[in-house]
Amino acid sequence: MAQQIALNVNGRAVTVGVDDPEMPLLYALRDDLGLHGPRFGCGLGQCGACTVNVDGEAVRSCVTPVSAVARKRVLTLEGLGTPEKPHTLQKAFIEEQAVQCGYCINGMIMQAAALMSSNKNPSDAQIKQALAYNLCRCGTHLRIVRAVRRACCGA
Ligand code: FES
Ligand code: FES
Repeated sequence: MAQQIALNVNGRAVTVGVDDPEMPLLYALRDDLGLHGPRFGCGLGQCGACTVNVDGEAVRSCVTPVSAVARKRVLTLEGLGTPEKPHTLQKAFIEEQAVQCGYCINGMIMQAAALMSSNKNPSDAQIKQALAYNLCRCGTHLRIVRAVRRACCGA
């Protein structure tokens, strides 16, 4: 019988029914809740495409059991801003044209959002360190770093 797990996602209380409480959070977000910001890349915690924030920390949702985030605050790309009122990171990524195929961008933005919540004015070195384990196969890293700098520092 499916187990009901209560979650708080993007400020909304929701419940998902799972046969296996070890099921990755990513599957609950994408398949049960229809949130397609987080992407499936490697499924192994190695690329960062699936990153979401849990209680303000960047988390790889492909290797996080859905049961592990019960009663925690989960934030996905959809909860960060809206098309009408984008988050400063979302605006900066557009302004810097930091996207090629876009597959990695969810992870880049959510990882950067976690950085910004703990460090309002990171140096370039701190931005690069924070994003070091988020992979971009298009090679748009320099623009991504510029976008995060613009969001944090306005430059
Ligand atoms: S899909 Fe989760 S880290 Fe690659
Ligand atoms: S923009 Fe294509 S993987 Fe990063």
